[in-house]
Amino acid sequence: MNKKITNWKNKKVWLVGASDGIGAALAKKFLSEGVDLYVSSRRKEKLLDVVKGYSNATVLAFDVTDLSAAEEAIKQIPELDLVIFMAADYSPMKSDNLDAKRAGQIVDVNLKGAINISSVAIEKFLKQKRGHLSLVASVAGFVGLPESSVYGATKAALINFGESLAHDLKPLGLDISIVNPGFVKTRLTEKNEFDMPFIMTAEEAALEIFKGYGTGKFAITFPFIFSLFFRTIRVLPYCLHFKMMKALVKT
Ligand SMILES: NC(=O)c1ccc[n+]([C@@H]2O[C@H](COP(=O)([O-])OP(=O)(O)OC[C@H]3O[C@@H](n4cnc5c(N)ncnc54)[C@H](OP(=O)(O)O)[C@@H]3O)[C@@H](O)[C@H]2O)c1
Repeated sequence: MNKKITNWKNKKVWLVGASDGIGAALAKKFLSEGVDLYVSSRRKEKLLDVVKGYSNATVLAFDVTDLSAAEEAIKQIPELDLVIFMAADYSPMKSDNLDAKRAGQIVDVNLKGAINISSVAIEKFLKQKRGHLSLVASVAGFVGLPESSVYGATKAALINFGESLAHDLKPLGLDISIVNPGFVKTRLTEKNEFDMPFIMTAEEAALEIFKGYGTGKFAITFPFIFSLFFRTIRVLPYCLHFKMMKALVKT
């Protein structure tokens, strides 16, 4: 179990991937709760737009694939309670036409970026002797989805990475969590041409994540029913697994 975060006033949170979608909605929720918020992503103008009207926000724009930029960014933050890695890149990808160059970009942001941010956050947390690192993965990391081979693989890797970090860092007093949303209506999923069951808004997803930190759970997974399908399918024999996935996600 992680420490439950319920009183957010003056908590110090670094949200990486805050300029759009779920990150932007969560940033606004944090700001309205009195969090001292540091927001990052590449587009500074967009970040400034998200935090407009709030005095409790600091914008630190950089690219997560650049480790030295991440190191510079965290130097500007005096103290941190929670770091959330929310940044991601995605393109639907047909498996009969794998685009290795594009795949490399997705791996760089989703996985290398997560490792970059984790490394600088963990270093700081160990010095502070406390801190919570949260990695936003996806239910797409539970099972292989159609047209999601590379993105899904990065999210599966992120879940595994988070589990491993929890083993190693919980004994040192740090908190680790993973966040696994189902489908959320953002510019990321705008690219999908298939029906997305149980799709929710970015604000609804942000609220689930926000409430999730109050439970102390390692995995914040939603929506419940949709994720239950995925978790069940994961343990089924593959002959049933593929049949059920086909019925659930129609491409
Ligand atoms: N939408 C869904 O259905 C869904 C489902 C499950 C999980 N998720 C996960 O939830 C998180 C948020 O997704 P979303 O749908 O809100 O996506 P989004 O609207 O596309 O937002 C992605 C965020 O990542 C930032 N980002 C992308 N590349 C970056 C880079 N190289 N360096 C720094 N920041 C970068 C973007 O900002 P800039 O462009 O300004 O850099 C943006 O703030 C992601 O981790 C995603 O995988 C989403």
